[in-house]
Amino acid sequence: MTLTRNKSDIEHALVLEIARVTEAAALAASRWVGMGDKHAVDKAGTEAMRDVLGSLDIRGEVVIGEGEMDEAPMLYIGEQLGNGKYEVDIAVDPVEGTSVTAKGLPNGLAVIAISEKGGLMQAPDCYMEKLIVPPPAAGRVHLEWPVEANLAAIAQALERNIQDLLITILDRERHADLIRQVRAAGARVKLIGDGDVIAGLAVGMRGTGVHALMGLGGAPEGVITAAALKCLGAEIQGRFIAEDDAQRERFVTMGVEEGRIYHTNELAPGKQLVFSGTGITHGELLEGVRRFGGGARTHTLVMGYATRVVRFIDSVHLEEDSARVTIRI
Ligand code: FBP
Repeated sequence: MTLTRNKSDIEHALVLEIARVTEAAALAASRWVGMGDKHAVDKAGTEAMRDVLGSLDIRGEVVIGEGEMDEAPMLYIGEQLGNGKYEVDIAVDPVEGTSVTAKGLPNGLAVIAISEKGGLMQAPDCYMEKLIVPPPAAGRVHLEWPVEANLAAIAQALERNIQDLLITILDRERHADLIRQVRAAGARVKLIGDGDVIAGLAVGMRGTGVHALMGLGGAPEGVITAAALKCLGAEIQGRFIAEDDAQRERFVTMGVEEGRIYHTNELAPGKQLVFSGTGITHGELLEGVRRFGGGARTHTLVMGYATRVVRFIDSVHLEEDSARVTIRI
């Protein structure tokens, strides 16, 4: 008798385990919340994330990481991890929003996506022009269209007026014209200081009060966001932006086409995808790490694409043997 391999075996194996990875990173980084040292925040999150990744039943390669091998001591692009059963690609951002975390501000997040080999695009570390829309507007917008046309399409998909849309944009000088165009079309703008992964995820869910994300953010963050949005049925369109010739050369080496619009499924082509994000500081979708004597509580969003599961996990971690805690519901 031939046994058919379960098509979502990687997901089944990892969809709960993956929560431990971002929980560990968030717990470690949370020690540095508000301490004003973004390097310490990042180091703590990265080390903790790598430790737990090493304990999973995977043989993985980091495709989105902390930088190139000569820039980052660990979780660098190309790093091989584990000696386990499942061959996977890994995209990490142990602390997404290092500055906000160091300042004790909202939306610090530990985040990871894992897929079968080849399931996550290896993106260069550059900017990406992004358009993120919720599930009803997926397939009904285009990054090349004028801003007003996209807003009209989103409004129609969501059965409302343009005036009823709130569009998230990173608060940067480079977005002055985009912000002007969105406002001129009648939509409202939510300016965020940092953290376009969690902001993109918020667009992919109902009840968050935001209806699209536009503008330039990090390309690696774009790939991780794509994995998450694919699980939600939402859409990201992204265009890689080269700022100089060195980046242009990097695009050629990595096979990235400048000017081309990449869709969710090209950024995250995986058939098996798991995503996990744990709040470090309080945010629009997730609570941050809340510490008590001897332990802490974390809030995590875990999703699987093939397994079609979206879980919000509220965990209490007793970090010291002597910790005694009365669990609050
Ligand atoms: P860090 O985690 O590296 O601080 O990145 C935060 C972030 O705001 C991302 O969410 C976003 O994609 C990117 O930086 C935007 O880059 P820039 O700050 O250069 O505009």
